[in-house]
Amino acid sequence: MEIKNICCIGAGYVGGPTMSVIALKCPNINITVVDANESKINAWNGPLDKLPIFEPGLKEVVKIARGRNLFFSSNIEDSIEKAEMIFMAVNTPTRTEGEGAGMSADLRFIEACARDIAKYSKSDKIVIEKSTVPVRTAEKIKEILTSENKNVHFEILSNPEFLAEGTAIEDLSKSDRVLIGGDETKSGKKATKALVDIYAKWIPTDKILTTNVWSSELSKLASNAMLAQRVSSINSLSALCEKTEANIDELSMAIGMDHRIGKHFLKASVGFGGSCFQKDILNLVYLCRFYGLDEVAEYWHQVVKINNYQKNRFAQKIINYFGGNLTGKKIAILGWSFKANTNDSRESAAIKVSEILFKNGANLLIYDPKVQKKTILNDIETLWKIRSEDTVREKINIVEKLNDIKQPDAYAILTEWDEFQTIENKESKIIFDGRNINNNKNKVSIGK
Ligand code: NAD
Ligand code: UGA
Repeated sequence: MEIKNICCIGAGYVGGPTMSVIALKCPNINITVVDANESKINAWNGPLDKLPIFEPGLKEVVKIARGRNLFFSSNIEDSIEKAEMIFMAVNTPTRTEGEGAGMSADLRFIEACARDIAKYSKSDKIVIEKSTVPVRTAEKIKEILTSENKNVHFEILSNPEFLAEGTAIEDLSKSDRVLIGGDETKSGKKATKALVDIYAKWIPTDKILTTNVWSSELSKLASNAMLAQRVSSINSLSALCEKTEANIDELSMAIGMDHRIGKHFLKASVGFGGSCFQKDILNLVYLCRFYGLDEVAEYWHQVVKINNYQKNRFAQKIINYFGGNLTGKKIAILGWSFKANTNDSRESAAIKVSEILFKNGANLLIYDPKVQKKTILNDIETLWKIRSEDTVREKINIVEKLNDIKQPDAYAILTEWDEFQTIENKESKIIFDGRNINNNKNKVSIGK
């Protein structure tokens, strides 16, 4: 089965970069990325240096493919109708209300996509879960599709995305693996082959793994849980290092040199952030409890608990350094994104640490190279639950350049942006370093 038209619902951090790379590698397939957010679509169609997502290498790919076989549109109906294959790349955040609030995934955006697909489809479709979803979500999607449209055949595949922000284009171009879950039926195998053929244009076939739908859905949650577990493991040990004069960098190196363990994801930090690790682990915990596996649930929950402990511990270190009171102290917050090379601040450790410092009396000077001032203000207002207009004027100052930070009492480095490397050499100020870099006498680092 030859695919000529793809529709992707969701033009966010996954839909945008993923479809850009597929379009680049498959010039004979027309790809339309649609989104309910019209201003996001306008930004995708706008100047290359103002795309809605900052991701190294993205604008170069968009430059080649946009207008050739890659399109961004708000016309969801038309794009669904035309496509033989539809990706769902919408957000699946933690539920904030109802059954499972604070733990389980909110599938209302997925369900809305399914209803749109059912409504606008006039020919058979392959529907692909690209979003991260709880195991057995495909069952729910199928129920919506088949009950709301009995005239066409829908084949559902799971194809979770493993890209990391900041390296998305590289990850998509040279994936460790592509995972595709499909049914063992004749039509299931046919749909799986159609998707395998697309990826096989640039991914070696031995890296394309096909499984049943449920293994594929659950592997995504499990992969994120295992990665986050390594970060929480090393972060928990950083606390013990600080008590014993063992050095966390040396520990990471020594542990990681065992090839059975490996060196990646052993970098002690102020805590992992990002839109997915916490939400996916909480979702896993919820699923385990749902199936009556309380011990398993508690095991994974501990990964999130250690992450919260680490963020609090780091903030407390700063408060303790100043004798338990930050009133009148000016703290420079370096970095707002959850990691370097992205403009994404979702669940960033910087948000939590800054909140604790602020609520303990500190004046904050905040700088991030890529997160926009309006995003920082919005994070403060919605997540700290304070009215930012008043507070910002008096106690929080968001600056445009690193050099705009004058005379702070301390720096708190919360994101590992390259440009913060120079801080340590130039100034004699106290630096609280949430990254795992070399220690010096003016520095209070994680694990040291
Ligand atoms: P995002 O919030 O950046 O983008 C989602 C987009 O979907 C938004 O632009 C939103 O407007 C749009 N949308 C929601 N409902 C819609 C609807 N019914 N119709 C049209 N558009 C709709 O989210 P993201 O970071 O791209 O994540 C998407 C999914 O991929 C999530 O399930 C996430 O867990 C998973 N994932 C994310 C990453 C990552 O690095 N961000 C990596 C792997 C997997
Ligand atoms: C993560 C996974 O790495 C991706 O495979 C997955 O697709 C994605 O989640 C997702 O499902 O959303 P991402 O969150 O973009 O990707 O970035 P990571 O590089 O995994 O970093 C996550 C957080 O862990 C960051 O805050 C980072 O600073 C922190 N981290 C990472 C550490 O503190 N130490 C490490 O050794 C590695």
